[in-house]
Amino acid sequence: MDTIKRINDSLIDAVSVSNTPDCPAKLAEAIDYTVFSGGARIRPKLCMAVAIACKEDDCDVTNAAAIAIELLHCASLIHDDLPCFDNAATRRGKASVHRKFGEPLAVLTGDALIVLAFQVLARHTNGQPARLCHLLKIISDSVGAPNGICAGQAWESEPTVSLAKYQRAKTGALFSAATMAGAAAAGYEPEDWRELGDCIGEAYQVADDIRDVAGDPEKMGKPTGQDAALGRPSACQELGLAGAIKRFKSLMQQAVDSIPECPGADALKMHMLQESERFLPKEIIRSAA
Ligand code: IPE
Ligand code: IPE
Ligand code: MG
Ligand code: MG
Repeated sequence: MDTIKRINDSLIDAVSVSNTPDCPAKLAEAIDYTVFSGGARIRPKLCMAVAIACKEDDCDVTNAAAIAIELLHCASLIHDDLPCFDNAATRRGKASVHRKFGEPLAVLTGDALIVLAFQVLARHTNGQPARLCHLLKIISDSVGAPNGICAGQAWESEPTVSLAKYQRAKTGALFSAATMAGAAAAGYEPEDWRELGDCIGEAYQVADDIRDVAGDPEKMGKPTGQDAALGRPSACQELGLAGAIKRFKSLMQQAVDSIPECPGADALKMHMLQESERFLPKEIIRSAA
C-alpha cells in the first residue's frame, strides 16, 4: 500500500471517533474540515519513509506515530492562523478554520486534535510498551516547551530571538520528531535519526520563508508577504533571497549525508532528493534568480 493511502486511511479511522451524535456537530465538522483539507502530509510521509528504511515490523505502530504527528501539525496550523497569531484568512486554499467556524471552535478544534494525537498513540500501540514510551517522549517534546512548537510560537512574544532557535522550535522540532518516531516505531534507536529531522525541518522553514517572498499565493493556498508584514524573523530577511536558497540547498545535502546505516538507506536518500524538489520547486528558484 502506498504511504499516502496508509496515512489517509489511518486519519479517517482516527477522525471517525468524533463522527458520532455524541459529539457537537460543528466541532466534528471542523475537525473533518481541518484534517481533510489537502495538506501535503510531508511529516507523516517522512516518518513512514524512515520506518520503512528501518524495515518496520509493526505497521500499526508506524501509522499511529505518523498520523499523531500530522494531527499535531494540523492543530498548530489552526492556532497559527488565529487573529492573535498570524491572522490568516486562508489555509490550504480554503478559509482558515476561525474564518469558517469562528474563533471559539477554532481554538477547541486545535485542542481536540492535540488530544486526538495522543489518543491514537494509546489506541494503536498495544503490545509495544517500550516503543510507546519512546514515541510519547519524542512527540510530546516536539510540541511543548522549551523546544517544541509552543516555544517556537512564544518566541514571537519576546523582544529578540535568534532565527535558528525560532525556526528549530516552531518547525524543526516536528520534523525531528517525524524521523525519530519513524525509527522508534521500527524498534531502532531514535537519537541516531535526530540530525536528519533537524536538517530537513530547518530546510523546510527556509523554503517556506523563500516561498513567502517569491511564491504564488494561489498555488500555495495561503497568503504570501506575511513575514515582512508581521515583522517575523525569516531566512530571506537575514540572508537575502540568494543566501536563503544557498542555505536551503546546503541543509538538504547535510540531511542526505546524515542518514544512518539501515537496510533502506539508498531508497531513503532518493526519497529525500525527490522531496527537496517539492519543498522548493525549480520555478521558484528560477524566478528568485
Ligand atoms: C506549513 O506546513 C507550516 C510550516 C511549517 C511552514 P506545510 O507546508 O507542511 O503545510 P500543509 O500541511 O502542506 O498544509
Ligand atoms: C509555521 O509558521 C509554524 C507553525 C504553524 C507552528 P508560519 O507562520 O511561518 O507558517 P505559515 O506560513 O503560516 O504556514
Ligand atoms: Mg506563524
Ligand atoms: Mg503563519
